[in-house]
Amino acid sequence: HSRLSMAGKRVLITAAGTREPIDPVRYIGNRSSGKMGYALAQVAAARGAEVVLVSGPSSLPNPPCVTVKRVETAAEMRDAVLAEFDAVDVVIKAAAVADYRPELTAQQKIKKTEDMLTINLIKNPDILRELGQRKKQQLLIGFAAETEDLLAHAQEKLIKKNLDMIVANDVTLPGAGFNIDTNIVKVIHKNGQVEALPQLSKYQVAEIILDKICAILTKST
Ligand code: C5P
Repeated sequence: HSRLSMAGKRVLITAAGTREPIDPVRYIGNRSSGKMGYALAQVAAARGAEVVLVSGPSSLPNPPCVTVKRVETAAEMRDAVLAEFDAVDVVIKAAAVADYRPELTAQQKIKKTEDMLTINLIKNPDILRELGQRKKQQLLIGFAAETEDLLAHAQEKLIKKNLDMIVANDVTLPGAGFNIDTNIVKVIHKNGQVEALPQLSKYQVAEIILDKICAILTKST
């Protein structure tokens, strides 16, 4: 099916959550498994795209025919993404990047001597927002995991980060969100058009997202 072929296209995908170290043995993390991003990478590669997957820690195996770069922190993810960005046609940011990291990482394991322990957190760079400011030919697709006001928050992110499309999921719904094989998403386009998809496997969601990306790529060439 040539309409859906991605031969000759270079696609950068991020997946899984980042880990922000507190000390040599502890970190701040989140519940992202990487399943959505790995499904996207696998499907894009199966359609003939040249795929680089920048992944936070995940127990998933490397998808076939995909170049995988494993990172831990948001800062490492940013470096890996920026190294690829200029050369790609499409970026899909399915990673759950930590918004904050510990201000200081202890060099030794923190001992349980105090009754109360405070860890100062400082803001991480917003990788996608930076890409939105730099973008030239690239199509930029973001994800928004929300627990309330799904559409409003996702629409705001699409505009603020200068995206072409955002995939919003309410992570409180059964059948959606973290560490399961299905998702329930709404796809929001730059022109404001919203499409609500039913509960689907993450592979089916990946196929639909990539269909939409292919349609945009076909229109713009
Ligand atoms: O965290 P937030 O809801 O703003 O995430 C929306 C999108 O921005 C996601 O695609 C996520 O991968 C990306 N993001 C990022 N860098 C951050 C935070 C989020 O690239 N520091």
